[in-house]
Amino acid sequence: MIPVRRLGYAVYESPDVLRQAEYYEEVMGLVAVERTASRAVMATQMGQEVLVFEKGTSNHCPRLSLEVAGDFDLKDAAKKLAPYNIKTSTRTGVTPGVAHAVVFTDPKGTEIELFSAPKSSDAKPRGGGIAPVKFGHIAFTATTAQSISNFYCNALDFRVSDWIGNVFAFLRCGPDHHTCNFIDGPDGAMHHMAFELKDWAHVLTACDLLAHHRRPIIWGPGRHEVGHNIFIYHRDPDDHIIELFTEIDLMKDESLGYFEPRPWHRDRPQRPKVWGREEAAPQWGLPPSADFRRQGEQHLARQGHNG
Ligand SMILES: [Fe+2]
Repeated sequence: MIPVRRLGYAVYESPDVLRQAEYYEEVMGLVAVERTASRAVMATQMGQEVLVFEKGTSNHCPRLSLEVAGDFDLKDAAKKLAPYNIKTSTRTGVTPGVAHAVVFTDPKGTEIELFSAPKSSDAKPRGGGIAPVKFGHIAFTATTAQSISNFYCNALDFRVSDWIGNVFAFLRCGPDHHTCNFIDGPDGAMHHMAFELKDWAHVLTACDLLAHHRRPIIWGPGRHEVGHNIFIYHRDPDDHIIELFTEIDLMKDESLGYFEPRPWHRDRPQRPKVWGREEAAPQWGLPPSADFRRQGEQHLARQGHNG
């Protein structure tokens, strides 16, 4: 299998690339390491590229990049994916930080760029904004969550952290409880993406900053039961749901098989499991707003439309 170790950047089409770049710089506190009307590449203030916006007609997420283990030779990726009837190609000069990538399309139709040894940006942050510490996870819908999860685990070395029923998977490729979510639905629709904040005080600062910029919080603050992260969600100008989180469960040592014990865990120790829908509800906080819930309704409507 291919040892994927970290989320790289997500690539989105955008009808207005400069508006997205401005939002992610001023409100989210990212840094534009490349910015034209046709493409913007955004990095954290620590220099990791996390988002790419390309001029398009929709807000679709056609590509995702994943960083592989430092000792993995990307030349071996084609051979590892051949058993799944997946073909690869190569791409150079991908972003300012990624000189070379091996590219393939996953079974739900998302193009994946595999890379290693990225170059960190040294672009100067403008200061201000929320300034997350990293791009933590991304959630997609797929037909079915089970089959795409099997592919990510068997081919890309992801591990199952938790399931809600048999329709919502939480997969990790490092210590964080989840790096990718897969939810039953139409293939390849992005549900939400999540950025990690330092601590609860940083979440509070983010709430005040979002209020200052008149961006409503559409769910939270609350603490999830599955993954146990504190969360708030809002929408960006292209209508993507953005989660800001902290205190996510960590499996610091895979050989132990349980997450680092935390005061809010009810299972001792907290091991990967299948949660019922009711017991998976957040530990505290109000239910999601109608504006949050319309994401799933839109995906279902599109699935119906596509037959
Ligand atoms: Fe999330």
